[in-house]
Amino acid sequence: MNYMPSVLRYNNMKYNRCGNSGLQLPAVSLGLWHNFGGVDVFENGRKIIRQAFDNGITHIDLANNYGPPPGSAEENFGTILKKDFTGSLRDELIISSKAGYLMWPGPYGEWGSRKYLIASADQSLKRMGLDYVDIFYSHRPDPNTPLEETMGALDTIVKSGKALYAGISNYQASEAKKAIEILKSLGTPCLIHQPKYSMFERWVENGLLDVLGESGVGCIPFSPLAQGLLTDRYLKGIPKDSRAAKAHGFLQTNEITPEKLDKIIKLNAIASRRNQSLSQMALSWLLKDKRITSVLIGVSSVEQLDNNLAALNNLDYSSDELAEIETILKN
Ligand SMILES: NC(=O)c1ccc[n+]([C@@H]2O[C@H](COP(=O)([O-])OP(=O)(O)OC[C@H]3O[C@@H](n4cnc5c(N)ncnc54)[C@H](OP(=O)(O)O)[C@@H]3O)[C@@H](O)[C@H]2O)c1
Repeated sequence: MNYMPSVLRYNNMKYNRCGNSGLQLPAVSLGLWHNFGGVDVFENGRKIIRQAFDNGITHIDLANNYGPPPGSAEENFGTILKKDFTGSLRDELIISSKAGYLMWPGPYGEWGSRKYLIASADQSLKRMGLDYVDIFYSHRPDPNTPLEETMGALDTIVKSGKALYAGISNYQASEAKKAIEILKSLGTPCLIHQPKYSMFERWVENGLLDVLGESGVGCIPFSPLAQGLLTDRYLKGIPKDSRAAKAHGFLQTNEITPEKLDKIIKLNAIASRRNQSLSQMALSWLLKDKRITSVLIGVSSVEQLDNNLAALNNLDYSSDELAEIETILKN
């Protein structure tokens, strides 16, 4: 059936300015790392993307290696774009991709060389059937390539029209600061940083968020639900269709420890008191910091997506609630 996007799609989403840039991103963005690859059910992924767009999620995040197999999430997304996002709908979407992790064999298929980044950007565009992506990221810092070379490659990708903005991901505070300075000197400002950040993973609070805030660079935390731990998914064991149960899932069962479960149960109780699901609380807890532009979620169903979108209905915390959450997380 032909897709007709909802006319109400911009009614309920909140849009935040990305750092000092002209670009606004939805407070909730959708990532295609899991559940959109060649091993997954195509029509399920397609339904999720339609529902996301119908609810104002204009930003879809990809990377060269998403699948499995690597590249298949970009291929599937390209097919969905072609079938559903016709006409001028491309102009309502912010599509990102990245290069940094292993994509093809040999010395030019990973890390941060100019050779790899530019070849990979070309491959991603081909897989998605696009002329340009909106954001292109260096997926991880490369300790063996000069930062000037990696940032220079991002600058070239932007100036050649293959991407509109440049971003970095997984860079520590000091590396990020240097990368931001280099990009600025090249005339291609760093738009955004994509770090891992959730109630369970808080390294960004030790310097990175300050660097981003001071530099006017946006921040889009990935795995804000700790891959599903910060939801009700694992409260009663490990469901067969969950990420932890899947052979290709990145969440390992040994990460679901009794100590973690104890915290999850306690956090879940606070969420209930706030009339939220735990996933909604985990997302709103991140969005309370004004330096956070958007939270980058993954979902395996439309129901999970709808549940997470409702996080926007309650973004306020009392100082008592914050202190109680802190006690649970720090114990
Ligand atoms: N830059 C990087 O290095 C990097 C690394 C990782 C991810 N990312 C990006 O970040 C995106 C999100 O990462 P992520 O998928 O790990 O994020 P996440 O939101 O922390 O975890 C997503 C998983 O949580 C579960 N879930 C989500 N909503 C739920 C709900 N309402 N109720 C119950 N369970 C729920 C689902 O698990 P089930 O599948 O078990 O249902 C879902 O697959 C990726 O797609 C990718 O775009 C970037």
